[in-house]
Amino acid sequence: MELRTNRLILREFEEKDFSSVHAYASNLDNVKYMIWGPNDEKATEEFLRDCIAWQSKSPRLHYDFAVTLKSTGQLIGACGIYMDNAGEQANLGWILHKNYWKQGYTTEAAKALIAFGFNELKLHRISASCHTLNYGSYRVMEKCGMRREAHFIKNRRGREGIDDEWLDEYIYAILDNEWFA
Ligand SMILES: CC(C)(COP(=O)(O)OP(=O)(O)OC[C@H]1O[C@@H](n2cnc3c(N)ncnc32)[C@H](O)[C@@H]1OP(=O)(O)O)[C@@H](O)C(=O)NCCC(=O)NCCS
Repeated sequence: MELRTNRLILREFEEKDFSSVHAYASNLDNVKYMIWGPNDEKATEEFLRDCIAWQSKSPRLHYDFAVTLKSTGQLIGACGIYMDNAGEQANLGWILHKNYWKQGYTTEAAKALIAFGFNELKLHRISASCHTLNYGSYRVMEKCGMRREAHFIKNRRGREGIDDEWLDEYIYAILDNEWFA
C-alpha cells in the first residue's frame, strides 16, 4: 500500500522505522497540541506494532502511513486514515518532525489521504479534529477544503503533568460530493 504525491511517498510502516519515528514522537515540542505522546521507547514500539498489525487485517479499517521524502527516502512523519466499523466515515491524523514543518508537506499528504478515502475506500464523509490552538493542523484541514463544523468547549482531557486540564477542540469535515465538486 503506497500513496504518491509530488514530493512524498506515503508508505507502510516497518519495524526498522523505530528511530525515525521515535525522534519526533518522543519530543514534547513536537506533540505539544496532541493528546498522543511524548512517547517512551515502549510506546513507540507499540505504535509501530499496531500500525503493522493493521496491514494484514481484513477488513482493514486503519491505514497509517510513513511520510517519506521522494528525493532521499527520509522518514519525516506519519499520517493516517481511520475508518468507522461501517466503513462509511473516517478520521484523519498527522504529525511531522518539527524540522520539516511549514513546507506544505502535510497539506500535500492530507490531500492524498482524502483522495484515497473518497476514490478507493468510497467513503461518504472524512473528518479531522485538533486542539483549537493548533493553527498548523487546522490550516491543513482548511487548505484541503474541510469545513469547521464544531468547536467543542473543554471536552478533551490533557495529559497528566503536561497540559493537565480540559482543552477545546475543533472538528472539521468534508463530504464526498464536496470533494468531487
Ligand atoms: C500540524 C502539522 C502536521 C502541520 O504540518 P506542515 O507540514 O507544517 O503543514 P503545511 O506546511 O502543509 O502548512 C499548513 C499551514 O499551517 C502553517 N503551519 C504549519 N505548521 C505550523 C506551526 N507549527 N505553527 C504555525 N503555523 C504552522 C503553515 O505555515 C501553513 O499555513 P499557511 O498556508 O496559511 O501559510 C505540523 O505542524 C505538526 O507536525 N505538528 C505537531 C503534531 C500535531 O500537532 N499534529 C496534529 C494533531 S491534530
